[in-house]
Amino acid sequence: MTHLFQFNYCNPTRLLFGPEAMSTLGALIPAGARILLMYGSGSIRHNGAYDDVMTAMAGHAVVEFSGVEPNPSLETLDRAVALVRQERLDFILAVGGGSVVDGAKYVACAAGYAGDGWDIVSGRQPVSEALPVGAVITLAATGSESNGGAVVTSLARQQKKAFFSEAIRPRFAILNPHYLASLPDRQIANGLVDAFVHACEQYLTYPVDALVQDGYAEAVMRALRLLAERYDERRSPGWLQNLMWAANQALCGILGVGVPQDWATHRIAVELTALYGIDHGRTLSILQPSLLRETIEAKRAKLEQLGRRVFDLVDPAAEEVIAAIEAMYRRLGMPLCLTDAAVGDADAAGTVLAALHAHGLDAFGGHANIDAAMTARMIRRICLPA
Ligand code: NZQ
Ligand code: ZN
Repeated sequence: MTHLFQFNYCNPTRLLFGPEAMSTLGALIPAGARILLMYGSGSIRHNGAYDDVMTAMAGHAVVEFSGVEPNPSLETLDRAVALVRQERLDFILAVGGGSVVDGAKYVACAAGYAGDGWDIVSGRQPVSEALPVGAVITLAATGSESNGGAVVTSLARQQKKAFFSEAIRPRFAILNPHYLASLPDRQIANGLVDAFVHACEQYLTYPVDALVQDGYAEAVMRALRLLAERYDERRSPGWLQNLMWAANQALCGILGVGVPQDWATHRIAVELTALYGIDHGRTLSILQPSLLRETIEAKRAKLEQLGRRVFDLVDPAAEEVIAAIEAMYRRLGMPLCLTDAAVGDADAAGTVLAALHAHGLDAFGGHANIDAAMTARMIRRICLPA
C-alpha cells in the first residue's frame, strides 16, 4: 500500500549565512526591544562573536547572562528566567552552541509561566507562546538554531529531556563559519556525528518511496561522510562552512517531513549524558551501532540503500553498512563503547537500564518494535569493549 505523506511544515527562521551575516543583526531585532544576551562559559569572547554582537547591538538595551553550561540545567536557566522578569526583558539572543540556544528557548517559555519550569520540559505544560529568540550559532551540531526543540537537564531529578514547540523556533539564526575556528577538535567531531545521526533518525526506518526526503537526507549524510574522509582539512573555511550548513539542514525539520522516523538512539542518549556527563555527540557514536545491530532486520532495506548511496558500497549487506558507519566514527576519534568514554561504573548496564526504566523508556516500539529485551541487549553491548 502506498505510504501517503501527511505533514504541516513551516520553518519561519530567517537564516543569515556567511562572514557578512552579523552586519544585519541590529536590524533584525525590533527597535526598543530589551534584550537578554545569553552565552556559555566564555568561548564567544575568543572567536569574535561577543565583540561582533556588542557592536551590532549598540543602541539596544542589553542585559547579559553568562554561564549556561553544556547540557544546560534547569537550575541555571531559572536564574535567567528571574532576570528576564526583574529587568522586564522581551527578546532573547543566544550566542553559542546548542546548549545556549536550547537554554534560551526554555527561558523564552518559562518567563511567562508561573509554575515549576519542569512542567514545560516534561510536557505537562504545553507551550503555545514564548518570547522571541534569535540565535548566533558558534558550534555546528544540533540544528537548534532553526528548529522547535530544546533539551534541558534537571540536576535535582538527574534527568535530561527534550521538549518541542513551534513557538520556540528562533526568529533568525546567524551562521558564520568563522566562529567555528576556535572549536576544539573534540567538538568538531561531536558535531559531525550528531548531524549524521539526526539525518539517520529521520531516514533509517523502512522504504516508503519518499524520493525527495530520501534524496535530501542522502545528500546531507553524503556531505558529512565526505567531511569525515577529509577530516584533516577541518581547519579550512571551506570544510567548516560545509559542516555548518549540513548540521543546520540535518535538523531543521525538512528531511523528515511525512516519513516514518525512529529517534530511539536519541531517546537513550540523554540517559548516558544525565548519568555520566558524556558529550551528546559521543553518546550517539556509542549507542547507534549497537541499536542498528539490534534492529537490523527492520532496517535492512534502508541500511543497504544508505550503504549504496551514501558510502558508495557496491551491493552491501546491512552488516557492512553498520561497520562503515562505525569506521567513520572511529576515524573521527569518537568512542564506540562506554569504556572508550572512560565510564568506570562496574555495573553500567544495571545503572543505565534502571534509569531508562525510571523514565518509562524500557521499550520504544516504533517500526522496529523495540521491546525491553532488545533495549537490555543494546545496553549490555555498549558496556563491552568495541
Ligand atoms: O560554554 P561555551 O563557552 O559556550 O563553550 C562551549 C561548550 O563548552 C563550547 N563551544 C561552543 N562554541 C565554541 C565552543 N568552544 C570554542 N569555540 C566555539 N566556537 O563547546 C562546548 C559544548 O557546547 P554545547 O552548546 O553544549 O554543544 P552542542 O552544540 O553540541 O549542544 C549540545 C546540546 O544540545 C542538545 C544536546 O542534548 C546538548 O544538550 N541537543 C539539542 C537539539 C535541538 N535543540 O534540536 C538536538 C540534539 O540532538 C541535541 O540533543
Ligand atoms: Zn543530537
